[in-house]
Amino acid sequence: MCGIIGYSGPKQPLPILLAGLSRLEYRGYDSAGIAITDGKNLIIEKKQGKLQVLKDHLSDKKINGNIGIGHTRWATHGVPSDENAHPHYDNNQDFAIIHNGIIENYDEMKEELLKEDYQFESETDTEVVAVELSKRWTGNLLETVCQVAKDLDGTYALVVTTVKQPDTIVAGRMMSPLVLGVGEGEVFLASDSAAILEHTNKMIFLENGDFVEIKDGNYELFDINMNKISREIQEIDWEVSEAEKSGHDHFMYKEILEQAEVIERTITGRLEVGSEEIPVDLKQAKGFEKIWIVACGTAYHAGLFGKDLFEKVLGVSVSVELASEFRYREPIVGENDLAIVISQSGETMDTIAATELLKENNAHVLALVNVVGSSLARMADSVLYLHVGPEIGVASTKAYLGMLVGQLLLAKHWDESSKIETTFEEIKQLPSLIKETLKCESEIKEISKSINNHKDIYFIGRGLDYALAAEGALKLKEISYLHAEALAAGELKHGTLALIEDGTPVIVTASQHHLLDKTTSNVQEVKARGAFVIAIGNNSSKKLQDISNDYVTLPEASEMLSTIVSIIPLQFIAYHVANLNGESIDQPRNLAKSVTVE
Ligand code: F6R
Repeated sequence: MCGIIGYSGPKQPLPILLAGLSRLEYRGYDSAGIAITDGKNLIIEKKQGKLQVLKDHLSDKKINGNIGIGHTRWATHGVPSDENAHPHYDNNQDFAIIHNGIIENYDEMKEELLKEDYQFESETDTEVVAVELSKRWTGNLLETVCQVAKDLDGTYALVVTTVKQPDTIVAGRMMSPLVLGVGEGEVFLASDSAAILEHTNKMIFLENGDFVEIKDGNYELFDINMNKISREIQEIDWEVSEAEKSGHDHFMYKEILEQAEVIERTITGRLEVGSEEIPVDLKQAKGFEKIWIVACGTAYHAGLFGKDLFEKVLGVSVSVELASEFRYREPIVGENDLAIVISQSGETMDTIAATELLKENNAHVLALVNVVGSSLARMADSVLYLHVGPEIGVASTKAYLGMLVGQLLLAKHWDESSKIETTFEEIKQLPSLIKETLKCESEIKEISKSINNHKDIYFIGRGLDYALAAEGALKLKEISYLHAEALAAGELKHGTLALIEDGTPVIVTASQHHLLDKTTSNVQEVKARGAFVIAIGNNSSKKLQDISNDYVTLPEASEMLSTIVSIIPLQFIAYHVANLNGESIDQPRNLAKSVTVE
């Protein structure tokens, strides 16, 4: 949600900024902009629309300088426009600032500044900070930024440059992600380490209240009172190629295809009982009285899958909660509770806020996250990394699969009475099972042609299949803009069956062998009302095969693993329907990855 990039070093900043913004565009694509200082002048260029609009605008311009900052925007305050694009500047155009987050008290600040005749060109909260910096200039950029930051309520990753101190960039962080990349005589700033991985794998993940002063390719870290602090440099082991499309048209497609390899990494070293890679051991797990699973969107859907597993193996009640709702009620959290917070980015503001509440109530927080060093990983008492590599496609695919597998690993390690039939040996074969399942693509591509013109599409399933249906429907909605809804198959007759008419597509996942007969009956109910049924199941469901219009056969596997790989045909359905309809798959309208505002 808004991408930030910064550079200080011997190279020309512009190409570095534009390359970084390309990697960050998934965080917002309402506008893009850059600011570069050449020692005397501050050059600011910004354009509404995707990054390409800015690139075209800059193509015949020569902008040389010694430091630069860049931004790609996901609009919060003010419509997408050139004026509202970042960088913002003060009335003299001495300061340029880029920002990710929301300044909650900007209205009051703006009112005061207007009384003093300061002018504003944009509707944004960020411009107020730029004007404030100029008004309160002390002669030192770090000092000025820290003083202004003390008066800001809300969240920010801020990066500032000024002609008044043209060799310096100052940045600070409060709740919004900001990473410092440490190169040889050069320093980078980014919202996400994947954006600067081609330059360095040495990263410092700034913490809340951290500020950094960058000069001539060197950096020093401070707290808001300008006391020097130090932070550990972490080495990131992601490959640059993982953050590239590698010849595919879309990141989402590439990320679907690479699921076998990345899940290999998720399970590696974690298939032995007592593995140190599993953060909460059986003894500790047995002590919990209640489990909360807290997450948003796709990660929440992954949590629905985990609920059944943990209840089964630990015999305690599990509550799956939408993080955005959780802290606005009064959940009864106790010190003997385990909270599993799930997040690809580890930066989702709603999940962070819910985690704060869980921590205040002394629950043990176990984070299941993908991004190493992310905020949730640092807040948690224990962490299980997904290790699926950078996920760039806005529609989450491989991270979701990693979340299912991560939870299965936890449950297996806590499964004292062998309640989960799938063995570690079988889980070891999961990457080959995924590879086999990926072969359904050509079939799904054909099937997609029969549903891409429908306005309403339903996904049904029972038990864990319902959890998958919820995710399948979300995937389709977010990239194809078709109305898709997941329904618990047994619930149809309680109302929603009324929506089924002649030709309505109904996609059924039927991997839960023990629920097959019940699911088949529900399919018969929709079929009797004229539904066009696409079923996903294995070879043993002859009856379901017979009544379905299309049947996608999963490779033979244990029930649990069949359920896990069933998401693959659903991901392909979303991808191919959106592709047939010519939608912008990696940049769906109104959305951005990593939602760092509430
Ligand atoms: C949908 C999607 C979102 C995210 C949600 C939480 O494809 O990706 O629903 O799952 O915004 O994000 P993370 O997992 O980063 O906390």
